[in-house]
Amino acid sequence: MIPGLANPSIGFPFPINDWILIAMKILVTGGAGFIGSNFIRLLLQEKPQWVVVNFDKLTYCGNLENLKDIQGEKRYRFVHGDIANKQAVDTLLAEDHFDAIINFAAESHVDRSILDPSPFMRTNIEGTMVLLEGANKYQIKKFVQVSTDEVYGSISRGSFSELSNLSSGSPYSASKAAADLLCLAYWNTYKTPVSITRCTNNYGPYQFPEKLIPLAISNVLEGKAIPVYGDGLNVRDWIYVEDHCRGLLAVLEKGKPGEVYNIAGSSEKTNLDIVQTLLKQLGKKQDMIEFVKDRPGHDRRYSLDDRKIRKELSWKPLYNFDEAIKLTVNWYSENESWWQRIRTGEYLKYYEKMYLSR
Ligand code: NAD
Ligand code: DAU
Repeated sequence: MIPGLANPSIGFPFPINDWILIAMKILVTGGAGFIGSNFIRLLLQEKPQWVVVNFDKLTYCGNLENLKDIQGEKRYRFVHGDIANKQAVDTLLAEDHFDAIINFAAESHVDRSILDPSPFMRTNIEGTMVLLEGANKYQIKKFVQVSTDEVYGSISRGSFSELSNLSSGSPYSASKAAADLLCLAYWNTYKTPVSITRCTNNYGPYQFPEKLIPLAISNVLEGKAIPVYGDGLNVRDWIYVEDHCRGLLAVLEKGKPGEVYNIAGSSEKTNLDIVQTLLKQLGKKQDMIEFVKDRPGHDRRYSLDDRKIRKELSWKPLYNFDEAIKLTVNWYSENESWWQRIRTGEYLKYYEKMYLSR
């Protein structure tokens, strides 16, 4: 418990569930990545009494520059570490008494999983198991596993619900599906209080420029073509990252253990639609599109039914696609030095300067 905050066992005037909402110490894993860093920023803003520890291995896509603006914040602390390292996780959980864990830490890029699946299995499966073990040992009250719509696989018509079967199409997706099954098994066997979220494709500030939208924008700003895989007619459902993070906060606060929650953007687009929209917004001609060889095993369409989280947790997206894609294009245009430093590798020196030179 956070020192100085109310103890539910001594007649505090709220029921225990409400008390949990008042003051929490949260362990965020993978908080230096795209969604995790947006989540930490939102949490500090929306929950003035909550305290956050960000535990991140800083792989190629972990970037502390994503959190530069909250560096001096007293309710935030960074710890460098690997979720698949049992000793490191145990030391962290023993030192700090966390109320909840939210696990973003992952290898997240499908193309990389096709080239080399091993790091995906280690972090996404073994790492999740280490965290679940830690949650049991230290009696963590809430564990949110941040998963993906990719675990359901491709669907030609209609949408997947939380009851649909899992059918992974890539090593990345298989590793996430395995982690989901582990989480559900821990709930079933040990009553580890895990809730799983499965979200569609995110876009917004601080996304590593290997993913379609930031890659396309930064390529165009540098005068390079946008590579579109295959015929460009694969469909993804796009959600603004802040909307996803608000859904995660709702699950952290009110989600039931043992339950899965789909989170969707309700904005299904072909990849061609996406790149054409970006080119239009950037005032460039459509001839900057270059069709390239398709991704092996490329899932054709993802689509989720998210009525459960809307009904049970009163969540809904606040942004529509047209408005949020403009915000996103503006952000990458105005923060060129952020993605340039990634492209040149400069960003890797930030951690060294901030933490190792003290
Ligand atoms: P990202 O690749 O931008 O960030 C991943 C973060 O995890 C990085 O900071 C990295 O350093 C860290 N990390 C990797 N291995 C680690 C380890 N062993 N120990 C500790 N930290 C480690 O990913 P993202 O796009 O922000 O995705 C975050 C989570 O959300 C992932 O679990 C992903 O599967 C899921 N997700 C992503 C999307 C999307 O569209 N990006 C959609 C749905 C779900
Ligand atoms: O659906 C949620 C998933 O979305 C997350 O779980 C993953 O972590 C995240 O990486 C993302 O996976 P995708 O494979 O859908 O995202 P990506 O941005 O890599 O690709 C989006 C689509 O665009 C996909 O159909 C492949 C295509 N694409 C991608 C790239 C990088 C291209 O046509 N050209 C490209 O250069």
